Amino acid sequence: MGKRKKIFPSVLITDIADKGLALGRADSGEVVLVQGAVPGDRVKVLSKRKKKGVALGFVTELLEPSPDRVEPVCDHFFDCGGCKWQNLTYEKQLFLKNKTVINAIERIAKCRPETIGEPIPAPATTFFRNKLEFSFSNKRWLSLEEVKEDRKIERGNALGFHRPGSFDKIVDVEKCHLQPDPSNQVRNFVRDFAIKNNLEFFDIKEKTGLLRTLVVRTGAAGQLMVIVAFAQRNEEQIKQVLEAIVGEFPDITSLYYVINEKANDSLLDLPMQLYHGSEFLEEQLLDVKFRLGPKSFFQTNPAQAEKLFEIALDFAGIDNKSLVYDLYCGIGSISLPVARRAKKVVGIESVPEAIEDARINAELNGIDNVSFFTGEVEKLLDPTFFEKEGQPDVIIVDPPRAGLHPAVVDAILQTSVEKMVYVSCNPATQARDIGLLKEKYELINLRTVDMFPHTSHIETVALLKKRPTQS
Ligand SMILES: C[S@@+](CC[C@H](N)C(=O)[O-])C[C@H]1O[C@@H](n2cnc3c(N)ncnc32)[C@H](O)[C@@H]1O
Repeated sequence: MGKRKKIFPSVLITDIADKGLALGRADSGEVVLVQGAVPGDRVKVLSKRKKKGVALGFVTELLEPSPDRVEPVCDHFFDCGGCKWQNLTYEKQLFLKNKTVINAIERIAKCRPETIGEPIPAPATTFFRNKLEFSFSNKRWLSLEEVKEDRKIERGNALGFHRPGSFDKIVDVEKCHLQPDPSNQVRNFVRDFAIKNNLEFFDIKEKTGLLRTLVVRTGAAGQLMVIVAFAQRNEEQIKQVLEAIVGEFPDITSLYYVINEKANDSLLDLPMQLYHGSEFLEEQLLDVKFRLGPKSFFQTNPAQAEKLFEIALDFAGIDNKSLVYDLYCGIGSISLPVARRAKKVVGIESVPEAIEDARINAELNGIDNVSFFTGEVEKLLDPTFFEKEGQPDVIIVDPPRAGLHPAVVDAILQTSVEKMVYVSCNPATQARDIGLLKEKYELINLRTVDMFPHTSHIETVALLKKRPTQS
C-alpha cells in the first residue's frame, strides 16, 4: 500500500461535511472525511489522500448502519454521485440542512432570528427537476460489480452523467429519478438509436466523435424541449438523429441542435438551431407565465420555487404602495410576481440575456410597473441610482453563492429601507452578510426551503427589519 493510503478499521460518523461528505472520528481519535456514509454509521474507511490536512476516504465496509440509513431508490446511486443523500431518510436530510443554517447564523452572524420555522420539505423528492444535461462518451464508467467480475467487460458507449472525480468516464443511465417522463425515454432512445446506427459517441480526451451532449427540458403541461449538441458538422448524420427524435416523439414541443467544437461543454456562447417545433417552452410560477428559450435560465424545481417565492412575498409584506428593489433578479422570476402586488419593482442583474428574458416575460404578462437594469449591483447601486429610481420600501436580494458584494452591503446600510428579504443558496455567505448588516438590521425570520432533495444544497429565506433606534 502506498505511503498516503491508510485504513481506518472503525470510524463513527458524527456529522455531515461540505459537498455531501460525512465527518467521522476513528477509534484512534483522528478526524476523517468520508464518502458514502451517513451520520450514525460505523464504517471501515480506506483513505488515499488528505483534504486540508484531514484524511479523506471512502467506505469499504459498513460495520453498523445508522438508524437513519435507507435503501437508495436509484440503481445508479453508487456510481453516479448526483444524489449523494439518497441513502439518508428525508426527515434527517431536512434536519441536517436546518441545523447547518442555524449553526451558520449563530457562529458567523452571531445572532439568532426571532423565529426559525420548520424547514419546508419539497413537494416531491423524486422527479422534481425540469432540466437535465446528459453527456455522451465512448468510455462508459464500469460499476464496482463489473470490475469485480472475472471476465473482460467492454467499456462501450454511454449517455448519462460524469462520474465525480473522473472527467472522461460517463455513468450510463437507464433510469434517473430526477426528471419526469419522458426524460428517461428520450435519453434511452437517443443512446440506443446512436448505438444501433454506429454513430460515434464523443471521446472526451481526444475530442473526437459526433454526439456530445443532450439537454432535456420539461415544461408546464407536458411540454418538452430537446437540445442535441454535436461535436462535428456532419449534416447527414445530424439529420438522421434529429429525424429519428421527431419520429419517436412526434408531440415534442421544441427540438434544437448545436455544433460544439470547443474545448468545453458550455452551450451558452453557441448559436442554437431550431430543427422542429416552437422556439419556446412555457412555464408558470405563481401567477406569472415564463417563456423559455434554449438558453434561458429557469428555476429547476418550479414546484418548490413557488413555495420559496410565497415565503419571500409573505416576508416582504408588500402592497400596491410599495417600491421594491429585486437585486440579482435573473430573469425576473421574483420581480414579476412581486410587481403584480407592488406599486413598482426595480430589478438589477448582470447577465444581459437574463434581463432580455425578464423584459420579454414582463411584456408577455402585461406587467408594466417594473424597470430592469443590466449591470453589476455593486456598480449600479449608488446614491444617484436611489435618487433616480426612488428609496425602496423593501429590498429583495437573491445573490449567487458568493453572497453580497461589500459595496452592496454598504449601499444598503446607507438607505432608509425598512425591510430586506434575503434569498440565499449558501448559508455561510448569507450569515456573513447578515452579520455585516446587523448594526442596522435585525434578523426576524429565517426559513430553510429544500429545493434539492438528496443533495447537500441548501436554500434559505431571511427577513431583516430596520432596528427601531436607527434613523
Ligand atoms: C441565485 S441567481 C438569482 C436568480 C433570480 N432570482 C431568478 O430567479 O431568476 C443569482 C443571479 O445573480 C446574477 N449575478 C451574479 N453576480 C452579479 C452581480 N455582481 N450583479 C448583478 N447580478 C449578478 C446571476 O447572473 C444570477 O442571475
